[in-house]
Amino acid sequence: MSKKATISSIKKSKGVKPLVMITAYDALFAKLLEPSADMILVGDSLNMSFAGKGDTVSATLEQMIYHTNAVCMGAKNSFVICDMPFGTYSDENVALKNSIKVYQQTHADCVKIEGGEDKAYIVKHLTDNGIAVCGHIGLLPQSVRSEGGYKVKGKNQDEKEQLLLDAKAIEKAGAFCMVIEGTKADVAKEISESVSIPVIGIGAGVDVDGQVLVFSDMLGLFEEFTPKFVKKYMDGATLVKNAVKEYADEVVSHKFPSEEHTY
Ligand code: KIV
Repeated sequence: MSKKATISSIKKSKGVKPLVMITAYDALFAKLLEPSADMILVGDSLNMSFAGKGDTVSATLEQMIYHTNAVCMGAKNSFVICDMPFGTYSDENVALKNSIKVYQQTHADCVKIEGGEDKAYIVKHLTDNGIAVCGHIGLLPQSVRSEGGYKVKGKNQDEKEQLLLDAKAIEKAGAFCMVIEGTKADVAKEISESVSIPVIGIGAGVDVDGQVLVFSDMLGLFEEFTPKFVKKYMDGATLVKNAVKEYADEVVSHKFPSEEHTY
């Protein structure tokens, strides 16, 4: 069994070895993913792939706590990140109250919050009060309704400068690592080079300090849409459908259960 990652080992891996982060929402998958992942993210993306909603905005803290507990049960040797859902860190006091709830009710090792320079005061308040924080800059899925869609970031000089300010502000506020999502690869590279904490990319190119993917995307289980940055490492949807069809056919034809599966 490999050693569980810590804040210190994660920070030290920058420039040494790319970090592997993957999402999980339940104990079953967390256990399967654990051997290959440095960090497991209980992302609010569960609101889409697990709960079937159109975006992440309506995920609740109770949902996140429930799923984080399940992941912690399944992957006892993993560094687990609980994504703070929309509305649960609207100011520093609300953020601290809700993050303490996550710490008290789950075994999560840290929380993740979306936002850059504008949210740095919240990150600072959390880290000052003993909560470990993973930042999240670039494309922010929780802003999908206010921004009118998912927009790739870093496409012009203003956006690039703001992203650099965001990354530096989050680092200064005490975050131990950050996710950068949906950002031009050259900008993400510059950001990774400009901060001393690991920058984990999703749709941000290869020149960062690690990668994160949503497990149901990379296993080909989520069929609604496939962003350009998703690589499907297997066609899970077809495998599952074929297996269930075979089972259904065997039930109908009385082939299942055979002697082998009968008492
Ligand atoms: O919710 C999530 O799964 C995430 C990843 C996309 C980084 O935040």
